Amino acid sequence: MSDRELRERIGGRSDLADLAPYRAPQLDVAIRLNTNESPYPPPDSFKEALATRIARSDLHRYPDREFAELREALGSAAGTITERVWAANGSNEILLQIMLAFGGSERKAMTFEPTYPMHSQITRISGTRLIRGRRNPDHTIHLEATLEAITSQAPDIVFLCSPNNPTGNTVSEEEVISICEAAPGIVILDEAYVEFAERPLLSLIEDCDRLIITRSFSKAWRLAGLRLGFLIAHPWVIEEIQKVRLPYHLSVLTQAAGLTAVEFADELRSTVETMKLERERLYREMSTMKGLGAYPSEANFVFFTSFDRPAAEIWQHLLDAGILIRDFSDLPGCESSLRVSVGTPEQNEAFLETLSHAVARS
Ligand SMILES: Cc1ncc(COP(=O)(O)O)c(C=O)c1O
Repeated sequence: MSDRELRERIGGRSDLADLAPYRAPQLDVAIRLNTNESPYPPPDSFKEALATRIARSDLHRYPDREFAELREALGSAAGTITERVWAANGSNEILLQIMLAFGGSERKAMTFEPTYPMHSQITRISGTRLIRGRRNPDHTIHLEATLEAITSQAPDIVFLCSPNNPTGNTVSEEEVISICEAAPGIVILDEAYVEFAERPLLSLIEDCDRLIITRSFSKAWRLAGLRLGFLIAHPWVIEEIQKVRLPYHLSVLTQAAGLTAVEFADELRSTVETMKLERERLYREMSTMKGLGAYPSEANFVFFTSFDRPAAEIWQHLLDAGILIRDFSDLPGCESSLRVSVGTPEQNEAFLETLSHAVARS
């Protein structure tokens, strides 16, 4: 039988028939500003320390299943206790583990869109019913409407994202508290970009025993290739997650890299301030370009709308110049909008220059 016949006859899960795989383009171009990675590789001293640690590792043995040393290190790096920390292969896997533990066919999860598309994707992958809530036209949370939606829909899981991807804005402490009070189940606060924001909301964990904060090593820590993310939550949440995680899910190599990363925490995060200054420069300069509307951001990217020229044309114009950014115009609420990740000053300069030509051509 041909592949096509097999797909038609056997197929995959019927509830996922209309689900498209995650496919942000990964193109080999000179300037990649499309996936919010760091433009700065980690320092050689980090790589050398990691190589030494790996050379001492027992690769013929399974890793420590409970990754006790790494949990303790992550806890102290994040300013919390070991019992409140759990890690996985990227914060995407953390989100999947949360949804496997708390979602399922009898449960529903609510997103407020536009937001990180993997929140809805992972909800569906876990077989959970998805309810898509909306944001204000300027992409901020409409607190009253959000609380009303949560009260009437009673979702078992609420997703928040702060700073929000792709729009860059944050939710306030008061908003998270009100949402936690209204939500009948758990609230996930995705803080993948928190190091670039004015203030983290970690202290809310003290009072909100159903809040789960997720973090990533892929952004401010400059280690997207490592695939390490973690959550901070009350121990009862972690006990539920332990039921669904696969044994030995964090390899010896990942644990070694995570421990080394925590030892190099200051060096790895030392580029954050430069990135924030560059983000402000991008925002300022884009705000002065005719035919563009840029949104203020507290992350390592800037979201913008093209009023006069279709987003696809702007995207292509930049790509022709060897600069890859992300076109979000397919996402509901993001019509004609794009997102650029903050790069090095030289990359940002090249982007601004090319963008100014692209909009001038409209
Ligand atoms: C809001 C948000 N959460 C989570 C992730 C996933 O990060 P990780 O690389 O840790 O899986 C991303 C990646 O872009 C993101 O934007």
